[in-house]
Amino acid sequence: MNFADKNILIAASGGIAAYKTAQLVRTLVKYNARVRVMMTPTATQFVSPLTFETLSGHPVLLDLFPEQGGASTAHIDWARWADVIVVCPATANTMAKLAHGLADNAVTTTLSATTAPVLLCPAMNKEMYASKAHQDNQKRLQDLGYRLVEPSQGWLACGEEGWGRLADLSVIIEAIEDTLYGTHEFAEKHFLISAGPTRENIDPVRYISNRSSGKMGYALARQAFLRGAQVTVVTGPTTLELPPGIRRVDVENAREMTAAIEAHYHECDVLLMVAAVADFRPSQVAEEKIKKKNISHVLHLTENPDILNLLAPHKKGRIHVGFSLETNNIVEHSLEKLKQKKLDLIIANNPREQGAGFDHDTNRVTIVFADGQTRESPLMDKTSIADQILDEIRILLNQHKS
Ligand code: CTP
Repeated sequence: MNFADKNILIAASGGIAAYKTAQLVRTLVKYNARVRVMMTPTATQFVSPLTFETLSGHPVLLDLFPEQGGASTAHIDWARWADVIVVCPATANTMAKLAHGLADNAVTTTLSATTAPVLLCPAMNKEMYASKAHQDNQKRLQDLGYRLVEPSQGWLACGEEGWGRLADLSVIIEAIEDTLYGTHEFAEKHFLISAGPTRENIDPVRYISNRSSGKMGYALARQAFLRGAQVTVVTGPTTLELPPGIRRVDVENAREMTAAIEAHYHECDVLLMVAAVADFRPSQVAEEKIKKKNISHVLHLTENPDILNLLAPHKKGRIHVGFSLETNNIVEHSLEKLKQKKLDLIIANNPREQGAGFDHDTNRVTIVFADGQTRESPLMDKTSIADQILDEIRILLNQHKS
């Protein structure tokens, strides 16, 4: 392995696994990386800064306002210097701070100022790891674009056995390598992704919508971004967040979504229509709240534009991917849609299946190809499903190139 010319910033927070971080630094230096280390105050209780200074050959960043003077903008300089930041070990406390944007020491402040990819390597007691608060924070961090190097199972320093042990150093080093070199497969590709539901107003209080949460579209956006793509997300109303590097366009109804997709279409290489676009809207939006005795008389529906159909004639070399929700004859119906909308792939799923479809963190999909072939996924978290779909898109992009 060779990390020549790469700047790797290690952030040690205060857990006993910090002693393993010394070995990580030593190994990265052996692989020719330029390594710097910053530590939280608690980390210095476990390992001396001198250990890291000696191994990395560079002073350790400990304070935002060092007594010996020096620039008080060190956190910005270090944040910019790094090609990747590895938080190892990442304690529950430091992860909680990052999940909520706290910047109260040199480590959290530098992390809040960086645009470099950040790997989190959690290490903690199994109950702390399993706690709802930590799991919620961890999920939020992944939603924000932090990459997780999952801890392993085994003997913990507290004498118990379970999940929470720092991942093996070889796994951490592989993740660093993947982040530095493996994620640029979509460099210079622009993904335009629609996500979430649309809302079609009936009157000032009521609207027609559907149960889409946006989770699948957001997972695709994050994973494409992590693989180096430029990503624009046109999103209906959701409560989800996206990493800062992703361009986000918020819309409410199907016509606004159509306009936003059309506005960004010229620059995209891949269009992923994940949104559950409402097929119909009320023909007229009432200015005042409609009285219930009148509503069945005044509610007339007009069909919304079909975005994929509208763009099909302008497709040229682009890849178009659709999503299809069906409760019966899933593959047949999805293949019909694929042909009619001139898609390259359609991702079919059945919202009635347990753990799949709307609002779940997991999904089970069937990827349907233009030649009618299909590939079924097992029930997996939506991030892994997104990765499978992106693997297929990568193959299609390579085919288009050759
Ligand atoms: N879609 C679209 N514009 C719409 C409706 C849907 O671009 N007005 C896209 C969706 O984002 C999805 C695909 O078309 O990628 C299939 O959506 P779906 O609702 O399953 O299919 P419909 O074509 O609307 O057919 P039906 O509702 O009858 O199943």
